Amino acid sequence: MHDTSPRTADGKVLWHFSMSLDGFVAGPGHGMDWMPAATNRPGLVEEYLETTGAVLGGRDGWDAFPAAGAVYGGAWSGPVFVLTHHPEDAEPADGVTFLNCDVAEAVQIARRAAGGKNVEVLSPSIGRQLLDAGLLDEIDLHILPVLLGDGIRLYDAPGGAPVPLEFVNGDPVEEINLRYRPVGRSGG
Ligand SMILES: NC(=O)c1ccc[n+]([C@@H]2O[C@H](COP(=O)([O-])OP(=O)(O)OC[C@H]3O[C@@H](n4cnc5c(N)ncnc54)[C@H](OP(=O)(O)O)[C@@H]3O)[C@@H](O)[C@H]2O)c1
Repeated sequence: MHDTSPRTADGKVLWHFSMSLDGFVAGPGHGMDWMPAATNRPGLVEEYLETTGAVLGGRDGWDAFPAAGAVYGGAWSGPVFVLTHHPEDAEPADGVTFLNCDVAEAVQIARRAAGGKNVEVLSPSIGRQLLDAGLLDEIDLHILPVLLGDGIRLYDAPGGAPVPLEFVNGDPVEEINLRYRPVGRSGG
């Protein structure tokens, strides 16, 4: 499952996340201690460093990790946009623009800043809004061998209709078989 084709820097709007097997991208309280320090897919970070032109995030993620320089461990630099309904109380930071607008306008601003490269949406809630608006091009996920049971879901839309997806980095398939067993857990 590591031989995924490289993302191209061709102006896509992407969701890019590490995700638990049960669909969470952060644990309770924005906990990220379940994620490994490094990816095991060779060249992945380099690929994203090269193809990412701008980052769009939300205020909760920013408040939990307020460091624009920390995108890809500080290896990526570029324009970061943070959506919030109250930009006036955000601490200014170099390279970060706080926006209070609808997601369509935010993504347009980020696209322009990305200069033809991809816009990476590092927010589940904004990605969901973009998906609803038909403005999300791709979802790139790294599924980790862990169940969290609680936290922030990739896609949280209670009562929503199913969103069909097409598999784009391999032969079209209806389902992918992943087989795991629990390890290192004692008691309940
Ligand atoms: N696993 C991974 O690879 C990965 C990668 C990136 C991020 N994450 C995690 O994702 C989590 C954050 O995601 P989240 O979805 O819970 O929160 P979020 O998108 O970071 O923040 C939500 C907030 O953004 C603002 N917002 C969203 N849409 C808006 C709109 N249309 N207009 C104005 N403001 C808007 C609102 O802030 P106001 O209340 O200020 O209005 C809203 O409360 C963090 O825990 C982060 O660590 C995980």
